[in-house]
Amino acid sequence: MKVVLAYSGGLDTSTILVLLKKKYNADVITVTVDVGQEDDMKGVEERAYELGASKHYTIDAKKEFAEEYVFKAIKANALYEGKYPLGTALARPLIAKKVAEIAMEENADAVAHGCTGKGNDQVRFDLTLKAYLKPGIKILAPVRELKLTRSVNIKILSEYGYKVPETHKKYSIDENLWSRSIEGGELDDPLKEPGEDAFAWTMPPEKAPDKPAYISIEFDEGIPVKVNDEKMDSVQMIKYLNMFLGSHGFGRIDLIESRVVGLKSREVYEAPAALALIEAHQDLERMVLTPKELRFKRLIDEMWTDLVYQGLWIDPLRTHLESSINSMNKYICGVVKLKVFKGSLSVVGRNSPYSLYSREVIDYNTGWYPSDEEARGFIMIHGMYALTSLKVRNSK
Ligand code: ARG
Ligand code: SIN
Repeated sequence: MKVVLAYSGGLDTSTILVLLKKKYNADVITVTVDVGQEDDMKGVEERAYELGASKHYTIDAKKEFAEEYVFKAIKANALYEGKYPLGTALARPLIAKKVAEIAMEENADAVAHGCTGKGNDQVRFDLTLKAYLKPGIKILAPVRELKLTRSVNIKILSEYGYKVPETHKKYSIDENLWSRSIEGGELDDPLKEPGEDAFAWTMPPEKAPDKPAYISIEFDEGIPVKVNDEKMDSVQMIKYLNMFLGSHGFGRIDLIESRVVGLKSREVYEAPAALALIEAHQDLERMVLTPKELRFKRLIDEMWTDLVYQGLWIDPLRTHLESSINSMNKYICGVVKLKVFKGSLSVVGRNSPYSLYSREVIDYNTGWYPSDEEARGFIMIHGMYALTSLKVRNSK
């Protein structure tokens, strides 16, 4: 049996590799998709061969991830349940697509992934794989099928003589350009503050510089194109913002999240660039869009976000929503100034060629001023339903 395994080099996928090879005598081809995780890709490859892979692919998908997935999330201000910028949820469909392509090229009998039966990731992987794979190629989910827990996996790996790095023992970590997610271990106590050892991208806010820093982001049609007036490529910009804002202690998230599989989980994330870019993008929308556009957009932004979180990247509704999201983003151009200080970030200025804000109009001394009559007429008609209903109801 020839199996293509979506391999991260972590605890679960390493165990699967060993089991498939040693226990089921399968020919295992491993695929690691680089979506900006900070892992040493050469090291992951060496580990795959050491654990028995017959062939290994490393696919650099950073640019595709940034421009075809992350940029769409910025345009949709995607924060699941108001807080989580979807890093893992965005990367899964791309990883699954790449793995499916290789499985077909290699004429594999099956594709395997390392997701548990209690998580969202299994839904994202299985559905995207089903959408891309030729019929006949099976999907194996050994962690789910054999109920492999992290402690069992540590045992299996040690039985076969493989050392498990300490970092893999404590938390389950998933990292890409857009976010670093940390789960499990002592974080499962929702009342307990996460220990500093959970974090890798952000300084503890109390240790961040004592002076605030300013940064400006320029958007063109909803997409960030410049930082501090300097043109930056998508991947480079996201990495730079993660590093710079993280050094100021900004970007930590701690939330109780509603998984798609019917259970709440405690999730900790680091996502400095994501939070800052969405904050800035949304601020510019408030300046540019009409109130009706703004309200409609918040509704469809949330639908887009829920769909992606729930593993439905392949759902045709996503592209319908994106038509509207893109047509409004055509006008999201301009600059937003941000101030970051000891873990907090605020927008302190903005400007856009499509701004509906006019200093002249809002100024009491200049420009247009409604006449008393115009104002009275407007206010009366505007409040008619409210005043009429009060009168009718109070008279009974
Ligand atoms: N709860 C997040 C999500 O569903 C993060 C999942 C992280 N995955 C992991 N294998 N650690 O998107
Ligand atoms: C997993 O199932 O592998 C991690 C948790 C999740 O998907 O939410």
